Amino acid sequence: MNEVTLPTTQKTQRTANTRKVFIKTYGCQMNVYDSERMGDALAGDGYQVTKNIEEAELVLLNTCHIREKAAEKVYSDIGRIRKIKEKNEADGRRLTIGVTGCVAQAEGKEILHRAKAVDLVVGPQTYHRLPQIVARALSGERVVDTDYATEDKFEHLPKPQRAQVISRGVTAFLTIQEGCDKFCTFCVVPYTRGSEQSRPVSRIVEEARRLTQAGVREITLLGQNVNAWHGEGPDGREWGLGELLFKLAKLDGLQRLRYTTSHPIDMSRDDEDSLLAAHRDLEILMPYLHLPVQSGSDRILKAMNRHHTADDYLRAIERFRNVRPDIAISGDFIVGFPGESDEDFNQTLSLINEVNYASAFSFCYSPRPGTPGALLKETVPKEIASARLQELQALLNQQQYAFNQNCVGKQMDVLLEKPGKKPDQLIARSPWLQSVILNDSVGKIGDILPVRIIEGSPNSLVGEVI
Ligand code: SAH
Ligand code: SF4
Ligand code: F3S
Repeated sequence: MNEVTLPTTQKTQRTANTRKVFIKTYGCQMNVYDSERMGDALAGDGYQVTKNIEEAELVLLNTCHIREKAAEKVYSDIGRIRKIKEKNEADGRRLTIGVTGCVAQAEGKEILHRAKAVDLVVGPQTYHRLPQIVARALSGERVVDTDYATEDKFEHLPKPQRAQVISRGVTAFLTIQEGCDKFCTFCVVPYTRGSEQSRPVSRIVEEARRLTQAGVREITLLGQNVNAWHGEGPDGREWGLGELLFKLAKLDGLQRLRYTTSHPIDMSRDDEDSLLAAHRDLEILMPYLHLPVQSGSDRILKAMNRHHTADDYLRAIERFRNVRPDIAISGDFIVGFPGESDEDFNQTLSLINEVNYASAFSFCYSPRPGTPGALLKETVPKEIASARLQELQALLNQQQYAFNQNCVGKQMDVLLEKPGKKPDQLIARSPWLQSVILNDSVGKIGDILPVRIIEGSPNSLVGEVI
C-alpha cells in the first residue's frame, strides 16, 4: 500500500512547492543571458519560470537604461503589474515585484520611492545573491542591492540543469565579458555594468561544453566590447578572442560560433592576428560582424570619445573583407548627437554607402543622466534628429533589402531553429543571421540543412530544402 501511495504524495508535495517566477527582459542580449541565469539561480529554491504573469508569485523586470524611452517603459509596466498584485492580494495571494538590470543599477533606491509596489531592486553584478534577496523581501523588507560586487558573479551562479538548457533551444548566448571601460560620452553602460571583466578560458569552455552536450548547436559569445576580451588561458597566459574561438571550434557537437558586440578600436590590425585568422580559417565561425560606428563624422566621433576615425573603421572592415569576402557587416548609429551638423550627418550617410550594411540598428540620441554628453549645450532640435533618423533608416533598410534579394537563387546551409507560425513551417537561421522560412517539413530542430533561397523580403528569406 505504502509503495503505491508514497510516490503520489511526493508528487503532490512537489507540485504544491513549485513557485513560479515571471521574468521580463528589456535591452540587449546580455540581459537575455542574465535573465536565464536568474532563472537558474532561483531554480534551487523551487522556482519555475513561467510565461504567464497571472500565475507568478515573483515578477522580475530585467531592465535597460540605454535610452530614456527604454528606462521609462519599466515604470508603465510596473503600473500594470501593480494592478495584478492588488488583485492577487484581494484573493489572498502574494506577488513580489523586483526590478533588476541596468535601471536598477542606475536608479537604486529611487525606484522604491517612485514605485511603491516594488519589493526589491538588484543591479547586474549581484544576481548570485538573488535567492537571499528574495527571501528577505518575502520576510517584509524592501531590499536594494546595487553593489559593484568584487566577486565574480558567474562563479557563484548555479549551473543550469540539462532540461533547462534544452527548453531554451538550439542557439544560446554565453557572456564571456562584462562591463565597459570605454566611456563613450553618450553611454550609461560603464556606470550600470561596471568595469570590464573577462572570464577565464576554462570557465567559458566548461559552459560551452555543457550547452553543446544539451543540444545547443550555435553559440554567440557576448560582451559589451567582446573583441577586447582577454581572459586567462589554461597556460596562465592572457588569451585574445581569436585564440578562444579556435579553442571553442574544437568542441564536439558545436556547429556554429558568433560573437557580439565589437568595438572598432579593438579590431585586429594585421593578418597574423588571431581574430582575422579565425575568420579566415574557421568554417564554424559565421561570416558576420557587428561593428557599431555611431557616426561617420570624425568631429562627432571625437565628441563621442570613440577614439577612432571614420577611416580607421573603414580600414578595419576592409581587413576582414580581405580574409572573408562574404562577411556581412552590421552596425549601430546615433543621429542628433549634440553639435551634429548637416555636414556631419552627410558624412554618416557616405560611410553607410561605402560600407553597404546587411543590417543595422539606429537611434535618435537620448541624453542620459550622469554621462558627459548630457552636459553638452549644442543640442540638435528633435524634429531635425527625427528627420535625419528617417533618412538614415531608409538607406539602411534599402541596403538590408538588397542584401536579402541578393541571396535569391543561392544555396546556403541553415540551422533549423524553431517552429514557424503555420503548421509544417520551420524558421531557420542563415550564416548571415537572416531568418529563413521553410515550408517543407523536412528535418528537425537543430539540424543544419542545405537550402535554396527562393524569395527575399526586407526582413527575412524563404528557402526550399535541397
Ligand atoms: N558596446 C556597444 C554598444 C552598446 S549600447 C558599442 O560600443 O558599440 C547599444 C547601442 O545603443 C549603441 O551602439 C548605440 O548606438 C546606442 N546607444 C547607446 N547610448 C545611447 C544614447 N544615449 N542615445 C541613443 N542611442 C544610444
Ligand atoms: Fe557604451 Fe561605448 Fe562602452 Fe559601447 S564602448 S558599451 S557604446 S561606453
Ligand atoms: Fe541596456 Fe544595460 Fe544592455 S543599459 S543595452 S541592458 S547593458
